[in-house]
Amino acid sequence: MKKTLLHCFGILGIAALFIAFTGCQDQPTTPRRNQAILDMKRATDHHSFSKPEEAVVTHLDWNASIDFDTRVIAATARYAIQTSEGAKRILFDVVDLNILDVTVDGQVVEWALGPKQDFIGQPLSIPIGESSQEVSIRYESAPDAGALLWVEGEQPFLFTQSQAILARTWIPCQDSPGIRFTYNAHVQVPVGTMALMSATNPTEQSLDGHYDFKMEQPIPSYLLALAVGNVEFRSVGPHTGVYAVPELIDAAAYEFGEMEQLLVAAENLYGPYAWERYDLLVLPPAFPFGGMENPRLTFATPTIIAGDRSLVALVAHELAHSWSGNLVTNSTWDDFWLNEGFTVYFEQRIMESVYGREISEMLATLSYQGLVDEVDEIMDTNPDDTHLKLHLQNRNPDDGMTAIAYDKGYFFLRLMEKTVGRAPFDAFLKNYFESNAFTVMDTERFIDYLKTNLLNTDELLAAVDLEAWIYGPGLPENCPQVRSERIENVDATLTAWTHGDLATSALPWNEWVYQERYRFLSNLEDNMSSERLAELDAAFQITQTGNNEVLFAWLEQAVRSQYAPSYERLESFLVRVGRRKFLTPLYRALVETDQKDLAESIYAKARPNYHSVATGTMDELLGLN
Ligand code: BES
Ligand code: ZN
Repeated sequence: MKKTLLHCFGILGIAALFIAFTGCQDQPTTPRRNQAILDMKRATDHHSFSKPEEAVVTHLDWNASIDFDTRVIAATARYAIQTSEGAKRILFDVVDLNILDVTVDGQVVEWALGPKQDFIGQPLSIPIGESSQEVSIRYESAPDAGALLWVEGEQPFLFTQSQAILARTWIPCQDSPGIRFTYNAHVQVPVGTMALMSATNPTEQSLDGHYDFKMEQPIPSYLLALAVGNVEFRSVGPHTGVYAVPELIDAAAYEFGEMEQLLVAAENLYGPYAWERYDLLVLPPAFPFGGMENPRLTFATPTIIAGDRSLVALVAHELAHSWSGNLVTNSTWDDFWLNEGFTVYFEQRIMESVYGREISEMLATLSYQGLVDEVDEIMDTNPDDTHLKLHLQNRNPDDGMTAIAYDKGYFFLRLMEKTVGRAPFDAFLKNYFESNAFTVMDTERFIDYLKTNLLNTDELLAAVDLEAWIYGPGLPENCPQVRSERIENVDATLTAWTHGDLATSALPWNEWVYQERYRFLSNLEDNMSSERLAELDAAFQITQTGNNEVLFAWLEQAVRSQYAPSYERLESFLVRVGRRKFLTPLYRALVETDQKDLAESIYAKARPNYHSVATGTMDELLGLN
């Protein structure tokens, strides 16, 4: 029988000397977790080739050097592994990695790559035995690796985006959210740049371009992250700080100056923060998302720097993932709503606690509108995609990144809050995070957990209707209503203005916060006359706004109404900013209004600046693949 580490510890406890004669010396000398890792209740993940029930990684030592000239990461990934009885191989996920050599416990072995599959890449199979302890893979990443964006120019910058299944394009890994491991890294980068990871981070640039990292809490591979650039650090609180390029560091330190308050509010809601520090890195504008919850170091788009802290809900969101997602992790991408729905709910609660209910209800109202629009759209094409629980097998998990996971998920949690009352719901969530910390959750186990710990009477179950919310289409009838008086006033103002009952000069634009401006602009009728848009623009200089959410809403209307005076701004925005949430509606609006030529000519200039996540979507939208 295989001797597990537990056996050894047991023997150790009795008589240390005995060890030498038990064969335990061929067991790992570094701590490994026990059998529980292999037995962990993971749902089958169709987006990974790994078979954790045979052999699973527990720790990564990553040694890498980053070459901007060739756009290659040359690295060795050495993994501590845990094997089950009779294990003969360990499987990793890879996409376009050049595997140079592989050793198992120091011995060179013959590895093999399996056939390539759409979206998920190839399995890397490495022969092991049940007593194998360590697998080391020397490899290089491809210059067009999907996770990586190499930004050229005077200020070279590299960043990764691993979620959902792109970690395998820069590190061979068991790329499934249910598999967690700790990591250490040693990274060499060009002198004059700082390397940062989802780990302990430097606050000063090193003189020789070498950096060391430690992530002592086990994380899934989609939270592996690296950024390299000429950035500076500024502390904004005892556990919080920002990194940004020198030109943005002051603005970033102001914009995110309330991060410590957000962190304290989050801890007061749902228990202690498990990752010691919470820092934020401002990425180049090509970053394809608003934010990414890389542990200890959120990656964020610079488009949330508005100068007035008006877009910090995004920080609350990424911070909330430190619990929902990073601590309790969706088992597969079909359970993505467990990450994002919980996070939107938690985000709203943080916002309410720091900025008050009026602000959080405005946000909830906007989220409701976005949800209703998206449900309508998806119901036409793929109604099953409006279920919380998804079926993404043989598809890109990216398809699951819709308002369903986020906002239907949010309203489902809000319904439960309303049904059981806030205090019991908060106690439930706090307990949920605590008792499932550093493990995975899938939809079915969550339902069981809910039935045991929250919805434990027939009345409660009937009031919520889990079946309709989780496995049913659209928005169930018992969806909670949100009301925001301020948003209702905006709607009334818009109606009056549209009908000519209110003069442009009488619009309370300057008293409005961003949420109100956004609501007004995004609900303008399509095909507004150029005169009317020009009036608005002249009165409030909207084309020049520094708030990118407001600008985005304006540009979409400008496109839909073919308001040419904003097209220069449209083009410069699309060429500079690679955030997919902005790109998709803008390019789509161009296509839908017979301005495809313009879309294509802008895209030709912009595409080299975009990340693969964005080009994937835009290529499809513009019919280029
Ligand atoms: N984890 C997501 C980003 C993500 C999801 C990347 C799926 C890849 C695959 C992140 O937390 C997120 O939700 N970002 C949002 C911001 C938010 C405020 C809704 C974004 O980037 O727009
Ligand atoms: Zn999120």
